[in-house]
Amino acid sequence: MAYNLLKGKKGIIFGALDEKSIAWKTAERVHEEGGEFVLTNAPIAMRMGKINELAEKCGSKVIPADATSLEDITNLYEESMDALGGKFDFILHSIGMSPNVRKGRDYGDLNYDWFLKTLDVSALSFHKIMQVAEKKDVMNEWGSILALSYIAAQRTFPDYSDMAQAKAVLESIARSYGYRMAVNKKVRVNTISQSPTVTTAGTGVTGFDVFHDFADKMSPLGNADASSCADYIVSMFSDFTRMVTMQNLMHDGGFSNSGITQGVVDYLTNIDKSSSNK
Ligand SMILES: NC(=O)c1ccc[n+]([C@@H]2O[C@H](COP(=O)([O-])OP(=O)(O)OC[C@H]3O[C@@H](n4cnc5c(N)ncnc54)[C@H](O)[C@@H]3O)[C@@H](O)[C@H]2O)c1
Repeated sequence: MAYNLLKGKKGIIFGALDEKSIAWKTAERVHEEGGEFVLTNAPIAMRMGKINELAEKCGSKVIPADATSLEDITNLYEESMDALGGKFDFILHSIGMSPNVRKGRDYGDLNYDWFLKTLDVSALSFHKIMQVAEKKDVMNEWGSILALSYIAAQRTFPDYSDMAQAKAVLESIARSYGYRMAVNKKVRVNTISQSPTVTTAGTGVTGFDVFHDFADKMSPLGNADASSCADYIVSMFSDFTRMVTMQNLMHDGGFSNSGITQGVVDYLTNIDKSSSNK
């Protein structure tokens, strides 16, 4: 059901790779709610051409930009303001990539050049997006800027590797730049800490299926999927959340505040029984 929550609002959505992407689902929901936006992704991700299907559906322009390049971001903002006919009310940073995770490097044997790349792509790009936005004054007052995080910023999940550090930096940037954006531009900045979600970035982490299923059992409401994340993002772009800023918002079905759940107790009891039957 659509409520016209974003009618008249304009923005930029980074990170729609394919129909599983959180950014893809978000673009569809923002469109349903009346928002207009430019879609962007790294030039290399455009080669799949999938994003054009989404653009057609949403009546959006696609402008490639590597989110680690200040030049690309500047060009993206200039072209987007032309395309949308004004400044932005929302920006979604839905970007993550670790060469160490991708190439299966053990956490005790990290390649440090790749580690820096992880931090640049997955965290510093958020700072860059905001720094260029502030300098070029591209945001309307009471706008909303969001990035996606994961609870590995606070707790250890062994195979999440250097992405855990990237998420910790990302959340810290949301607080520091959130302060600045609030004072200078009356713009809010938050991160949403999302449940494990079946996407290209998510399933790239070793053991993803196991921790996806474990998180589902550990969450009283079950894992939040990409569509429900898109709904939450719409609410964070709407005028109903004007005073929420500098927060890391848990969107995880209750996972982060659960010690143990009946689902996990039942699962472990069954394992125990089956091993004592041997
Ligand atoms: N999938 C999960 O389990 C999960 C859980 C919590 C948070 N997140 C976060 O959600 C966000 C979106 O990921 P997703 O799960 O939708 O996966 P996804 O693979 O669909 O999206 C990741 C996107 O980052 C883009 N990207 C990579 N390098 C880039 C660069 N240099 N410039 C611009 N874009 C670049 C990719 O092209 C891709 O579109 C990420 O920040 C991810 O860490 C994912």
